[in-house]
Amino acid sequence: MSASVLLGLQWGDEGKGKITDYLASQAEIVLRFQGGDNAGHTLLIDGKKYFNHLIPSGIMYDDKLSIIGNGVVVNPATLVKEIAGLKENGISAKGLRVSEKCHLITPFHIALDGANEMRKGSIGTTKKGIGPAYSDKAARRGLRFLDLLDGDGGFQRYESAAKYHSFVLKEYFGIEPPDIQDSYDKIMEYLNILKTYICNTEELMFEAYEKGTKILFEGAQGILLDLDHGTYPFVTSSNTVSGAALCGSGYPLGGVKKITGVFKSYTTRVGDGPFATELFDDISEAICDKGGEYGTTTGRKRRVGWADIVDLKRAVLLSGTTDLAMTKADVLCGMEKVLIAEGRDSANKPIYKEFEGWGEIIQAGKYSDLPENLKKYIEYIEEQLGVPINIISYGPARRQTIER
Ligand code: GDP
Ligand code: IMO
Ligand code: MG
Repeated sequence: MSASVLLGLQWGDEGKGKITDYLASQAEIVLRFQGGDNAGHTLLIDGKKYFNHLIPSGIMYDDKLSIIGNGVVVNPATLVKEIAGLKENGISAKGLRVSEKCHLITPFHIALDGANEMRKGSIGTTKKGIGPAYSDKAARRGLRFLDLLDGDGGFQRYESAAKYHSFVLKEYFGIEPPDIQDSYDKIMEYLNILKTYICNTEELMFEAYEKGTKILFEGAQGILLDLDHGTYPFVTSSNTVSGAALCGSGYPLGGVKKITGVFKSYTTRVGDGPFATELFDDISEAICDKGGEYGTTTGRKRRVGWADIVDLKRAVLLSGTTDLAMTKADVLCGMEKVLIAEGRDSANKPIYKEFEGWGEIIQAGKYSDLPENLKKYIEYIEEQLGVPINIISYGPARRQTIER
């Protein structure tokens, strides 16, 4: 197997970071291909928590390449901070490579995202400048690392984009824009630190393809936040479906053999937008507390609801999922009943199927150790989706994982 893609099947925060870290032991390269520091992937290793926003979750293994592919939009300040944080914890970033084609998130993008969020009809973004940065990329006004690092003309390019942003901030939003020269100088300081990691990662992809190197593509966000296929306009500004792994890296289509879809045993969503199975009662509070459902990036409380076969089926099709990983099986332990939406009624409201709850999971080493009612729940989902659930996660730590 040369390449596999791992992605979220819901609205993000499915536990992609944990499963990527778990599977990364079998890969030689781990690559992020879309999104930016709107993502927050949490790893719990030897009792210590790590929060990765930009750096692929394979960074914990110092014999792997961790690549930030061209499809990612990068706030250089976040990346510098993240590298420093890893180093403080004794984790070397020597395997990190960043595509020279990554588009930059500047303080202007962040100001625009924040300003837009203050307007009526905003969608509850992470305010990290993701939408404005991808907008500039599509409008061919964006700045890539190589535009600022390659010889002369960098400041002129920066100034030209910044003047446009300043006009919008001042004249449309009535907000004082960041200072152009100051923000440029700061970015160049960051780039000076980052330049040892920045390279042509496309070449690394071609080489990996030819040699059959094992690559794991780590998705951010989730299928239901995909710009084209998600709950538009309550989506993120990149494509989160599996095909984005190719556009966001330069890796050829034929090399991808496996697509792992990660989902929670229930559903969560941060930010606004439709959520058919959302709960507004004590159960949602209990799940939120037990599951620690607070955003890794913004600290916002996540909305909570039951799992939804209708949405999951669509996500499996959109992503071409070949394998499933179900996380947070432990969070539903001890509940009297567990519901799952199996369809919709004529008013498009969820129709639920009820399962008897299951007891605590005590150090399960294999599938057969799991509570019977949990196995019934798992097997029902597998049957409905027509894809095997090969990984079951029942806690945040690496060891709390069962591979079938
Ligand atoms: P990601 O964005 O998909 O990587 O997910 P996040 O890291 O934002 O959110 C998932 C949270 O659940 C993190 O705090 C993880 O440490 C935690 N987590 C992952 N898998 C499990 C699990 O099986 N059980 C429990 N209780 N927590 C988990
Ligand atoms: P990970 O990778 C959950 C949501 C935001 C908002 C919408 C648009 O940790 O799963 P944006 O800042 O991207 O323009 O916001 O998308 N969102 C996420 N929700 N997990 C994420 O990433 C998310 N990244 C963006 O809350 O609703
Ligand atoms: Mg997250």
